[in-house]
Amino acid sequence: MGNLAVGWICFAVLCMVAVTSEAKSLKRSIPAPDIPNQCNSIERCCMPTPYTGVPGIRQFEFEAEQPWRVRRPAHRLSKFELDRLERAYALLRALPDSDPRSLWNQKNLHCLYCDNALYYPGQKYPLEIHNGWYFLPWHRMFMYWHERIIAKVLNDSTFALPFWAWDNQQDVTDPPGNVIPPQYTNPNSSLYDPIRNNCSQANPYIDLDTRGGVCSNKTASYMRTQNNRLIYSQIVVGAPTTSLFYGMPYYFGDWGGAGPGTFEDQPHGTVHAWVGDPYAKPPLKTLDDMGNFGRAAFDPIFYAHHANVDRVWYLWNHIPSGARSFPQNPIFNNTQFTLYDENANLVKMNVSQVLDSNLLRYRYEYLPTPWVTNGVEPGKENSIPLCNPLSKRSVTSLIATTGKFSSKLVLTDTAALTFKVRRPKKSSRGTEVLQLSGLRIPNNTAQAHWKAYLFYPGVAVTANAACPEYAGTLNFLPHVGQATTNPKRAWRVAIGPKLEQIGKSYVKDIVITMVQTTKPPGQNLTFTKAQIYYDLSPHVTYDA
Ligand code: C2O
Repeated sequence: MGNLAVGWICFAVLCMVAVTSEAKSLKRSIPAPDIPNQCNSIERCCMPTPYTGVPGIRQFEFEAEQPWRVRRPAHRLSKFELDRLERAYALLRALPDSDPRSLWNQKNLHCLYCDNALYYPGQKYPLEIHNGWYFLPWHRMFMYWHERIIAKVLNDSTFALPFWAWDNQQDVTDPPGNVIPPQYTNPNSSLYDPIRNNCSQANPYIDLDTRGGVCSNKTASYMRTQNNRLIYSQIVVGAPTTSLFYGMPYYFGDWGGAGPGTFEDQPHGTVHAWVGDPYAKPPLKTLDDMGNFGRAAFDPIFYAHHANVDRVWYLWNHIPSGARSFPQNPIFNNTQFTLYDENANLVKMNVSQVLDSNLLRYRYEYLPTPWVTNGVEPGKENSIPLCNPLSKRSVTSLIATTGKFSSKLVLTDTAALTFKVRRPKKSSRGTEVLQLSGLRIPNNTAQAHWKAYLFYPGVAVTANAACPEYAGTLNFLPHVGQATTNPKRAWRVAIGPKLEQIGKSYVKDIVITMVQTTKPPGQNLTFTKAQIYYDLSPHVTYDA
């Protein structure tokens, strides 16, 4: 009423301001969904109804009486811990379909939060916790309750989730962290899932640069180098800001999937794609189980993977360089999600309640993380020779002969695509970011994957991520439940620090080469806009 009254007496220009701020204030946090009642899933991943727990949804409060849990690396579990873990998944598998805590329903809970299933009354778009800034906090909540559920079914309050240390490339044989932990590949174990690709069983080293379940013949030492440098590119030099690491903002009612943080695409997404089966037959889908959101959490390795995702999030916050904080935005903080507790009762948590893992009373056992310094001695991060060394003169002529970005450009699966983008005037604040927006993925039930390079137009389609010129990856996992992908989807990476790393801070334009690296056949990918801007997060409330 008050707003309307102001509207009647104001001048036209002021009215517009009033209308605009009204529209802005419509941005709100996501209210805790009414699980299981708000579910409408074409993938049949709604949670069991009628629901018979304690009525209502309890608000989570910190529980100081919970024991401290130490999450340990999956490749270093003791015999006792391993037996206990196998017992846990045998028990979760044996729970009836009416129990929200069963492995089947834990998979459903993950599926319904991301695959076109949760509709709020009056809203057009379903809730989507992937490809945006709720990815990290939602999965932390999911792991938190999954861990407490296991502790409960085991009747062992000291139980802690193991983490699969795929980021750890240490050259040890007992076994190393960057193989799928062997206990998960034993067909007689409750940790085993038959719906995986063959290389995740036989070829020990995880290829964080995978093309989606295609086995690679890279050697162990090559893989170690590549994986370290890839993580460095993706989340250290490529994501020194809150916005880049967490992903695009997502408000209540939005069309979800506006753009993931760099970490969500890779290595988080490539680990999924590497474990999934590219030859899965109907009724299964390509890249099931792990490579599809609908079924991923039916593979017990999902939980060890996401414990590590959660650990890397913690580690990222402690990398000294950059602006690595939490999104400073009340809409983000006040969003609530509903989960099932260890007694199968509904509990809602605020995003703000899961930002500090200490308050949730768990921590991670220490393992070295050489990727923080590009896999080399600290201080030598940028010492790796370029794959495509160019004289200053060749850089100038490369820029002069390269065409500008145009929305007509198509990234096919057969040829690299090269274009240039002008840098803005230098700013003393913030981080320079390259953004491609309006990304169109014609078939969202298939994977889409590209890699981007700077000043490397001759890069092969099969190129790897070990070159310093490698700037980042898009890794879109099949999203079967969703009708289509958000047409405003953006892909971003920090460009200023990368240019410094490759000794090209002086250029006025950057030359980008993109190669599509999905398992063939790929898709024809397009985007409407390419721009470079300064990201000031978390010091401002940033917007899509
Ligand atoms: Cu919800 Cu790793 O995905």
